[in-house]
Amino acid sequence: MKKRNLVVANWKMNPDTIEESKKIFNISRTSAKILRNTDIVICPPFPYLQPLAKLGRPKNIFLGAQNISNEEKGAFTGEVSASMVKNAGAKFVIVGHSERRAMGETNNIIKKKLERAFDNGLTPILCIGEKVRNKEGDHLSFIRDQIKECLYGLQKKDVLGLIVAYEPIWAIGKSYRESMNPTDVHETTLFIKKSAGEIFGKDIADSFRILYGGSVEAENAAPIMEHGNISGFLVGHASLVSEQFSQILKTVDLKK
Ligand code: PGA
Repeated sequence: MKKRNLVVANWKMNPDTIEESKKIFNISRTSAKILRNTDIVICPPFPYLQPLAKLGRPKNIFLGAQNISNEEKGAFTGEVSASMVKNAGAKFVIVGHSERRAMGETNNIIKKKLERAFDNGLTPILCIGEKVRNKEGDHLSFIRDQIKECLYGLQKKDVLGLIVAYEPIWAIGKSYRESMNPTDVHETTLFIKKSAGEIFGKDIADSFRILYGGSVEAENAAPIMEHGNISGFLVGHASLVSEQFSQILKTVDLKK
């Protein structure tokens, strides 16, 4: 089956008000209408999910949460469960973002979050990526360990078509000049599929949709989309700048 392109907007802890969030969302809704091959997932902070879900939207734009608890329910102050975000209107959830891993999230916790997402009918977007790259290639074993520890033991039926966002930490939150070059993105996406194939077999690994994230801007979207062997992007800061985001969407949509 043909894989649709996908662009995920990670708003992180922005914007400050619901009014601003509606403005940004409205512009994305307008951009979505002209896309033929691309789905968009907007991941706002939790309090904006439900109000944004109440606004009408084209079929190719969805809402996602930026995180969920690894627990189902109960005495976990400050946590938000998978079923809560589902009920608030999310269809997707980002799991294992490096900024959450930096707060202490381990691969083991991330695996539980994936299970909570599957149990509750949410589509997870699993984030992986190394802190640094060196000539010895230590980043490769780091990525392989992340994949194995996050996915080993999950059911094939759940991971079929899994969305994996490859986000090298050293490239996040900078400018397009400092993002990864398309050839390295291509090599890494092959390696991710190979590592997943060692657990689930080649067919399942080939069904994965791999996104690239890390300073994607209007300027670098085209070469990475063309040569990176990816299905789309996870976009952070540029997803809050409407002209930038619209341009990225148009670029991604060119890939058939
Ligand atoms: P960035 O963020 O596009 O600002 O680099 C990507 C991310 O952290 O998801």
